[in-house]
Amino acid sequence: MGIDSKTRLCGLIGDPVEHSASPAMQNAAFEKAGLNIRYICFRVPAKQLSDAIRSIRVLGFVGFNVTVPHKQEVMRFLDRIDPVAYKIGAVNTLVCRGPVIEGYNTDWVGAVEALERVTLLKGKKCVLLGAGGAARGVAYGLLKRGAELVILNRTQEKAETLAEEFGCKSGGLAELESLKGDIIINATSVGLDSEDCIAGKSQLEHFKIAFDVIYNKDTRFLRIANAAGCRTVDGLWMLVHQGAAAFELWTGKKPDTPIMYSAAKKAIRVS
Ligand code: ATR
Repeated sequence: MGIDSKTRLCGLIGDPVEHSASPAMQNAAFEKAGLNIRYICFRVPAKQLSDAIRSIRVLGFVGFNVTVPHKQEVMRFLDRIDPVAYKIGAVNTLVCRGPVIEGYNTDWVGAVEALERVTLLKGKKCVLLGAGGAARGVAYGLLKRGAELVILNRTQEKAETLAEEFGCKSGGLAELESLKGDIIINATSVGLDSEDCIAGKSQLEHFKIAFDVIYNKDTRFLRIANAAGCRTVDGLWMLVHQGAAAFELWTGKKPDTPIMYSAAKKAIRVS
């Protein structure tokens, strides 16, 4: 893939960004689609976010992904925020129209499309573990697709507040003992940097499908779920589908998602 005077750029802003699989994934998709667009990472510390956005306005970028720690903060600097991103309270995709920057959330699309690879969501009984930033997008997506949702969280009040806002049920993690359903989702950060697991085999065997939003490794949650007889969906598919939705916002075209998945998987193994 060459770069010439007509090449246009997409990027990722966050801190840290060096382990991101998005450049490999998006560049594979741009290449497959024959588009002269490249994707690169920019490490932007929190203090420099407003300067970064000011630069983006004048440099003719196609768009950006936004990751930790900027997904909420970036909203202050945008010209327009999509109502869904506003409701979720986070922006992970910017579309640049000249100097005008629009903010979208494609994380929720990533979550539902990852799950829709294996099941329809309408009417399915889902238990969502977690009530933080990641859980908000997943909860929005599941409810939007007509699933029945219970949100369980270590800090029960946070689950209650989120459930009240979105119109579903909630509880503390202990309630998992007595719950059965179709789909269980880990949207906590448990297992991200450790071998800890938010649920045991005796709990996971009451579900048909298990999905973990953590994408950078094989999580113990999914290994136990697999041993408990669940069909598993790994978080890399969520990364791919949120990236595919961003690609579509930037280019108006649908990318090749299997190519994105294999490029992302390879990038994760290497990093
Ligand atoms: P993210 O953006 O990844 O969602 P976050 O907003 O900080 O990160 O949310 C982290 C989620 O993981 C929360 O639901 C958190 O539970 P609390 O609201 O009680 O803090 C959950 N979490 C983190 N560590 C946990 C642990 N050791 N046990 C159970 N839940 C945990």
